[in-house]
Amino acid sequence: MCGIFGIITNQNNLSLGKVVLEGIKRLEYRGYDSCGIVSLSNSKLFVKKDSGKIDEIQKKINLAEIPNNSKLALAHTRWATHGAPTKINSHPHLDCSNKIAIVHNGIIENFIELRKDLINQGHIFKSDTDTEVIPHLIEQKMKEGLNFKDSIVEALKLCNGAYGLAVCHADYPDLIIVVRKESPLVIGIEEGKTTYLASDIPAFLPLTRKCYIMEDDELAVLKAGEVDFYDLKNDKKINKELQVIEWTIDAAEKGGYEHFMLKEIYEEPTAMQRTLKISKDLLQVFANILWSAENIYITAAGTSFYASLAGKFIVSRFLGKYIQAIECSEFQTQLSNSLKNNSVIIALSQSGETIDTVEAIRWAKSKKNVKILTITNVVGSTLTRYSDNVIVTQAGPEIGVAATKTYCTQVLTLALIALEIAKLRKVELDSDIEKYEMALKSTPQIIEKFLNENIDEIKNIVNTLEKSVQFFFLARGISIATAKEGGLKLKEVACRFIEGYSAAHAKHGPISLVREGFPIIFIAPPDETYQRLIGNVMEFKARGGKIISLVVEDDKTISELSDLTIRIPQPGDKYHNIFSPITFTPALQLLAYYASLLHGLDPDKPLNLSKTVTVH
Ligand code: AGP
Repeated sequence: MCGIFGIITNQNNLSLGKVVLEGIKRLEYRGYDSCGIVSLSNSKLFVKKDSGKIDEIQKKINLAEIPNNSKLALAHTRWATHGAPTKINSHPHLDCSNKIAIVHNGIIENFIELRKDLINQGHIFKSDTDTEVIPHLIEQKMKEGLNFKDSIVEALKLCNGAYGLAVCHADYPDLIIVVRKESPLVIGIEEGKTTYLASDIPAFLPLTRKCYIMEDDELAVLKAGEVDFYDLKNDKKINKELQVIEWTIDAAEKGGYEHFMLKEIYEEPTAMQRTLKISKDLLQVFANILWSAENIYITAAGTSFYASLAGKFIVSRFLGKYIQAIECSEFQTQLSNSLKNNSVIIALSQSGETIDTVEAIRWAKSKKNVKILTITNVVGSTLTRYSDNVIVTQAGPEIGVAATKTYCTQVLTLALIALEIAKLRKVELDSDIEKYEMALKSTPQIIEKFLNENIDEIKNIVNTLEKSVQFFFLARGISIATAKEGGLKLKEVACRFIEGYSAAHAKHGPISLVREGFPIIFIAPPDETYQRLIGNVMEFKARGGKIISLVVEDDKTISELSDLTIRIPQPGDKYHNIFSPITFTPALQLLAYYASLLHGLDPDKPLNLSKTVTVH
């Protein structure tokens, strides 16, 4: 939630405004309610900010225009939590003297009390945000005689909550101070020339590949081309390892596609090829731990949760044990009295920063002796620090707010673990395991073929359904996960109302909504649920429902019952069917993408969403 970017340089030939604008735009997936930039020139701060998306604000007030001699700037793109998305509430926020400016990602939980105290001390607030207490607290500490850095340290001791923040001071034009607690922050560096700060690496990747990843309770003093790190708790200097990023910015840019979402769907085959190469040793570590565990939980949010539903189904199938999937925000409440020692918890998260997932894990670790197995797409993310073992999915950077390629790689990773378990347990014939492996390895080609051959069909279905505003996505067995994930995509990017549900259970209530022409998307791979699903299709058809089915290429029965059909190119046998969430979901992602375009929406920036949810 919220993106922050900053730069401090000694280079004269750098177009600072342009660099800052491009940097903050690369973080817009984190929030796009409002944006602002502060720069510094001749001991004065210059602030430009407004509500809206960055391009709109740039057009309106020329955000990128900053004083020529400025060598420092901070920028922020906001996902509103405290205070409406207005100009006044947008960052940066300043103190009373307009000398101290801050950009902040996170939440100061005790801001109401702090604000009251500061107002009693004579401070004047301009916004409704929690963030604004910080510059006033720093101002207060400086008035009390502390230096700039110590004032920040002391001010933050009074704040409860999470922050990734950057502060500059009009009288200190040669430094920026940044602090991290629970909200991600990375520092990029061109030694001797320029230093960058950002919520995420792609923000500065076209400028430098060298970076430091900040940990919780660390403070960094940034100067042009140099940086010093301190432990916030004892103020001691610390040495951090400089990392060199291997991937290039191309991976995080649109590369000729109209939207990141479309690009990332088309990247699925290669992302999966990379994921298929995850080390066998690592998969076996996960497999062994799961095999010897008595209680296994899997927890996540949103799309990662639906990947958990699909993945736990596959793992349980080969493990022969039940895995309980619990949404991360409910994990603590549901297990408050029942979490057992030696439980194994699988945490799934694209970003590795979703606060409810991180908190579920932290809580479990604080209560019992548990093992945490994390599957994430981001190396060094917060979740990895609380984990006993980590697998990094190989999706590459995902910028579109709607998760697409990361869903496929998450399910694939769990499927790979499942097959290692199958080998360990020896409950399947070796020849069967081989066929399952072959089936799994063919999933990238199946998706590639679908993406190459079926776009017109998807567009046609989207056009036919143009007037529909509510949908059911129904399925049985493992495909309920596909129904929920496909429904979530359409909900997020095309603003349609969706119920993703069990086809069998839908007759216990939801079916009462069905009238002539009500669209129902049935996910119908030819697995063990197929025969019964036919009955469910009939029930909805009998009530006038418009039936759209997702079936395999040579399907006969359900496609004949359907008004519209999407055919997934895969042989319908047991070896492939268990992996159907991987091969069927891209069709639903594309459906959502083209529906979004048809309704004039921006699929990369769905209303009210943020890619990384760091608030409870
Ligand atoms: C996916 O399309 C959503 N934007 C959202 O549900 C997301 O999957 C969820 O916030 C979890 O994020 P994570 O995987 O980074 O933990």
